[in-house]
Amino acid sequence: MANQEDQFKKVISHAKEYGYVFPSSEIYDGLSAVYDYAQNGVELKRNIREYWWKAMVQMHENIVGIDAAIFMHPTTWKASGHVDAFNDPLIDNKDSKKRYRADVLIEDYVGKLDAKIDKEVKKAAKRFGDAFDKAQFLETNPRVLGYKEKGAAILKRMGQSLEKEDLADVKALIEELEIACPLSGSKNWTDVKQFNLMFGTRLGATAESSMELYLRPETAQGIFVNFLNVQKTGRMKIPFGIAQTGKAFRNEIVARQFIFRMREFEQMEMQFFVRPGTQKAWYEQWKKTRLQWHLSLGMGAENYRFHDHEKLAHYADAAADIEFKFPFGFKELEGIHSRTDFDLSSHEKYASKKLQYFDPELNERYVPYVVETSIGLDRMFLAIFSHSLKEETLENGSTRTVLQLPAVLAPTKAAVLPLVKKDGLPEIARSIVADLTWDFAVTYDEKDAVGRRYRRQDAVGTPFCITVDHDTLNDDSVTLRHRDTMVQTRVKIAALKDLIKEEISMKNWLQKCAQ
Ligand code: GAP
Repeated sequence: MANQEDQFKKVISHAKEYGYVFPSSEIYDGLSAVYDYAQNGVELKRNIREYWWKAMVQMHENIVGIDAAIFMHPTTWKASGHVDAFNDPLIDNKDSKKRYRADVLIEDYVGKLDAKIDKEVKKAAKRFGDAFDKAQFLETNPRVLGYKEKGAAILKRMGQSLEKEDLADVKALIEELEIACPLSGSKNWTDVKQFNLMFGTRLGATAESSMELYLRPETAQGIFVNFLNVQKTGRMKIPFGIAQTGKAFRNEIVARQFIFRMREFEQMEMQFFVRPGTQKAWYEQWKKTRLQWHLSLGMGAENYRFHDHEKLAHYADAAADIEFKFPFGFKELEGIHSRTDFDLSSHEKYASKKLQYFDPELNERYVPYVVETSIGLDRMFLAIFSHSLKEETLENGSTRTVLQLPAVLAPTKAAVLPLVKKDGLPEIARSIVADLTWDFAVTYDEKDAVGRRYRRQDAVGTPFCITVDHDTLNDDSVTLRHRDTMVQTRVKIAALKDLIKEEISMKNWLQKCAQ
């Protein structure tokens, strides 16, 4: 656990030191759970968004994008159920006066059981050496099975109690598990209460004429209210999807874990409108498609798992998370939800407008069902960034810090380095930058010894370094150094562009989806 915490601290400080993420308004000591993306962070974030948009919108003939406003008519949130049901169960510790999400306290308890399982695995791996079969051990070891069973039973009971709004039982569970306040160790808890997560604001100049508004807590509703506009103007035929990326706001209570849980964050969502009765098959299809998208980035299948929801949101008939192994354990990265016709039907009622589709094949009019894929862009950023940050020991015993970002997403694709600041080498390096910069993001660096410059680019995640040396003057070739392997090859300047383009091509990376 301490190791995980150290690793996570390293991630946060690396993100700051290398210009990825800063605390918001830091000169005023920051604002809790609000962050700013810095010069490299903004590029990584943009690249992730584009990677998603390419896969989800541009590669699908039947999916289009929109960009709806953050402000929406307030009745939207009554219809969507957020005014009445978008709550977190909160509990206060009477001694420390600290407030917690009751479900997170319980999930953290289960997380500790998972950590115990990991410990058992490590111990057994040491004991059995090469003969160790991890899968078999996980299936048969009585201690592991005990932890698993206990964790599953706890989550099941919590899910059912939350579903039934039985908050007294959620408190009882916390007491039975003897969960203590992480800050004070006290077990002196208040009752569990519901707390609405939406931020309110006002639109209009005067107190009398102004209107209560909410900052949207999800982007999805901007898609639902535009369903018919898009369907008609785009002459879309079911099944079809509408996608968008944009900011969402939630007054999160447990606002820790860096950019994992923020109060202002960005979502990438797609609502897929289908014939009633076909939603189950589409739900399964989108679960598969989305997992493949994640796997295309090459961060290891073992770091993802599905978690089927026990407690369903007020709009869903099935829901699963794609969980990722963050430095603090497996946590939700993306949600795939079968939202039934809840949202469109509810907007029909509240707006008194028909939101139906005439299906020419069935000769029938109906309210479509919806399968949604919803991923937090910031959470995806954290998954990639934390997974990529590695501390390596090299053959000569020295260490290097390397940010092994997937090349397709790296903020800067190549750094061009003249070996020395004289003899015409900077001029050649500058001309290479001027040429490559039309095709992808490149940077120029001439300060310090070349070894130090390599380390700097490793730490910031640049996949390629191009070094111009004295031989370049004679043979028009440069050294191309690969960040991950540190292998260096001699390459003609004229060949650089195509070589690097091949390595960062979205097509090549996304095609791994199909394999
Ligand atoms: N439209 C459905 C929806 O909003 P959700 O499970 O509440 O579903 C979807 O959120 C995704 O948005 C999550 O899987 C997560 O990646 C991201 N997300 C949710 N709350 C977040 C927060 N406070 N900070 C960062 N990302 C968040």
